Amino acid sequence: MEIISNPTPGEIKRAAKALIDGHLVAFPTETVYGLGADATNEKAVSRIYSVKGRPTGHPLIVHISSIKQLESWAKDLPDYAIQLAREFWPGPMTLILKKSALAMDFITGGQDTVGLRIPAHPVAQELLAAFERLGGTGMAAPSANKFGAVSATSADDVIDEIGSSLYANDLIINGGSSRIGIESTIVDCVNDIPSVLRPGAITREMIENILSTRLFSIIDGTKTKHSGSFKSHYSPKAQVKLSGPAQSGDGFIALAKIATPLGAIRLASPEDVIQYAEQVYSALRLGDANGIKRIITIPPEGDGLAEAITDRLSKAAFR
Ligand code: TXA
Ligand code: MG
Repeated sequence: MEIISNPTPGEIKRAAKALIDGHLVAFPTETVYGLGADATNEKAVSRIYSVKGRPTGHPLIVHISSIKQLESWAKDLPDYAIQLAREFWPGPMTLILKKSALAMDFITGGQDTVGLRIPAHPVAQELLAAFERLGGTGMAAPSANKFGAVSATSADDVIDEIGSSLYANDLIINGGSSRIGIESTIVDCVNDIPSVLRPGAITREMIENILSTRLFSIIDGTKTKHSGSFKSHYSPKAQVKLSGPAQSGDGFIALAKIATPLGAIRLASPEDVIQYAEQVYSALRLGDANGIKRIITIPPEGDGLAEAITDRLSKAAFR
């Protein structure tokens, strides 16, 4: 595996060529790092599963550079999906749509839907544009971490997670730390009314305001299969708890205004929910790096981004 530490247009073009040639490219996005492969190349996509240790049959998000590419991958788009795409793309939102013939079973897990996203990170945008100039149509990319583990928000995290499973011709592009820090909001767009399958930085309220409708809640939502809906996920080696009391030697993650319990080891002190999202995964990783066995977290209260952080922490805590 090779690391591109200075992603100039020339280097990004080289990475796009690697994708065309069937290699894997880990790349930065504004949410978390992705592990990319040509979404039309079954062999390359199957390597994503082996590198992640992810059970096959879990669908992958296809990343595209522009709304023009939507028609290649999806069909029968409801008007509200187009509205959401126009409003929130490029950005931290994935739309689940009826798939076109291009979206094969090895992408969709045999379902008749496909997940699509246009990421906002400039390196991801440039990579997708270069890939499409070379004839590519879409890049399949899950988060660049082992199955069930904490997502990667920096190139170093990617190296720690999957570096040893990558091949000589695979690449990791270093684009700095992910600005948002948790995965995209997933919006199911196959029914008359959309529903949020995974909360994220594009909040329910933002979606409802744009569409002037109420969303389905997760509970009465569809039964679409998606691995983020497993109860256990995003887990570090340490045991994660959603409340105290902390004992001496426990890790501690909470908003800055909450004092560190006596003897606990502070892993992050975010000032607000935006910083909380940005720091939460690196804080969990820091706990593991320090050999901490138990991490007490105080999830932020409220909806919106707070709901998304609480969702990830709850899944990290589930065993
Ligand atoms: O922010 C993100 O979305 C990141 C970056 C790299 O774009 N990607 C990401 O991918 O989080 P992944 O594979 O770790 O999580 C994608 C989730 C999975 O839970 C998957 O099952 C679900 O999206 N998904 C993908 N296609 C789907 C589909 N057709 N129907 C329902 N869920 C789907
Ligand atoms: Mg993931």
